Amino acid sequence: MSTQQPRLPNRQTPFSEAFVAFIPTDWEPYAEELPGRLPAAEFTEARRDAVSAAFPGERLVVPAGPLKVRSNDTDYRFRPHSAFAHLTGLGTDREPDAVLVLEPSFADASATGDDIDAGGDDQGDGAGVEPTGHTAALYFKPRAPRTDPEFYADARYGEMWVGQRESLEEMTAMTGLACHPLADLPAALTAGIDRVETRIVRDVDDRLTTLLDELRRTNDVAFDPCVDVELATTLSELRLIKDEFEIEQMQLACDDTAVGFEAVARDFPTAVANGRGERWCEGVFSLHARHRGNDVGYGSICASGDHANTLHWIRNEGDLADGDLILMDMGVEVDSLYTADITRTLPVNGCFTPAQRKVYEAVLAAQQAGIDAARPGAKFSDVHTAAIRVVAEHLRAWGVLPVEVETSLDQLAGGHHRRWMVHGTSHHLGIDVHDCAQARQEYYREGTLRPGMVITVEPGIYFKATDILVPAELRGIGVRIEDDILITEDGARILSDKLPRDPDAVEAWLADLLGSTGA
Ligand code: GLY
Ligand code: MN
Ligand code: MN
Repeated sequence: MSTQQPRLPNRQTPFSEAFVAFIPTDWEPYAEELPGRLPAAEFTEARRDAVSAAFPGERLVVPAGPLKVRSNDTDYRFRPHSAFAHLTGLGTDREPDAVLVLEPSFADASATGDDIDAGGDDQGDGAGVEPTGHTAALYFKPRAPRTDPEFYADARYGEMWVGQRESLEEMTAMTGLACHPLADLPAALTAGIDRVETRIVRDVDDRLTTLLDELRRTNDVAFDPCVDVELATTLSELRLIKDEFEIEQMQLACDDTAVGFEAVARDFPTAVANGRGERWCEGVFSLHARHRGNDVGYGSICASGDHANTLHWIRNEGDLADGDLILMDMGVEVDSLYTADITRTLPVNGCFTPAQRKVYEAVLAAQQAGIDAARPGAKFSDVHTAAIRVVAEHLRAWGVLPVEVETSLDQLAGGHHRRWMVHGTSHHLGIDVHDCAQARQEYYREGTLRPGMVITVEPGIYFKATDILVPAELRGIGVRIEDDILITEDGARILSDKLPRDPDAVEAWLADLLGSTGA
């Protein structure tokens, strides 16, 4: 029979009246000096203006999202939704539950939501009023006074638990936005809901979306879910062309990522010696991602030997062996949340075997063809078309591809080469690793490359150890090379060029890092 003691209802010791009276006393006042403006804030107004122009006269709701439970009572580290970060300039750790609202203004002020509710007039149907733009407002949970139990008793938001939060004035100073307490948001969303079309970025903050849907229902607002999808699409397309700040941040992300790769490669001998070397590489890179930036931009892929042929190998549980290649696909996300996305496939002992070099050089040739195709005015798909042709040609020359190159490249009749490279060559990159993912086909896959776009070029060839169509000496070799490319006015710039790609340069770089000992 169990002798277990009954469990306490929770872990918190009740606070005595004496404690509650004592805790707010004898603290220095909060600093009067306001924090400086966020570097991104100089650019966010223009981004919001572009959204405003796309939806005249409509209320636009862009949530940051809530804290997400990892397990039980522990949360993941907070990372705001990308559209929110893009439009507010808020990055690392800010700001759980916050919501950006772009409130429409009209030439006739009596048509605003507040006035509609207060006056009950009949001008709110938009007839005869001209939208004149939007006023941006940030709703968030400002820090509670020390007299509030939140200060000491709230493990999710309390200052004693998670650190000092901003006041309304401080957040305004940082972002340049008018700021309001989150508690005021329901009233702001309710005002004029039956007259002003409201759109929200759905699937970010379920409680807020449910609240808005409920308001729509109870106020008999006809609602087509497409209106919300259109907002997400526009916000995604807005990020297709990066501004000066974004390009600077992406260069920083690439440079920081190069530092991380270098540290990992330098540690190859330790990774081999310690066992579970893939995990060691992941850990060393994570250290630098957290040290230099906010985090990794996505789960690092550290895939040694045949694991390289699993495209999203993030288990990273394998050993690193002398003689193996390790494919590492990793990116630092900087504090402003822009990320790099770089892949290098490196010989663990510093030297490619002839078979490894053969596959590596083929992938490099494909990548170079893709990079050469990445020019302003070219189609986004031209990059893949150029790279995949080179992949198919090599596969055919090696006797692997069972049909003619042209047959395989025929999308309807062929596609055989995809057995060895099933993924695309490029995607947009930015504040999300797969940035602009909601953009319409005609602006993305079928779109035209323009100055300010940042894309990856990342072909690969993957020969699984079990693939009997492949010559025995090539089985188990997987290679991807991925770089981040800025389209410029007259061509393209490789943002990730601090890491070598050429196989001789890779070996020289590794010799330098590993010294004479090798791995
Ligand atoms: N790291 C994911 C990708 O390359 O798309
Ligand atoms: Mn990528
Ligand atoms: Mn990648």
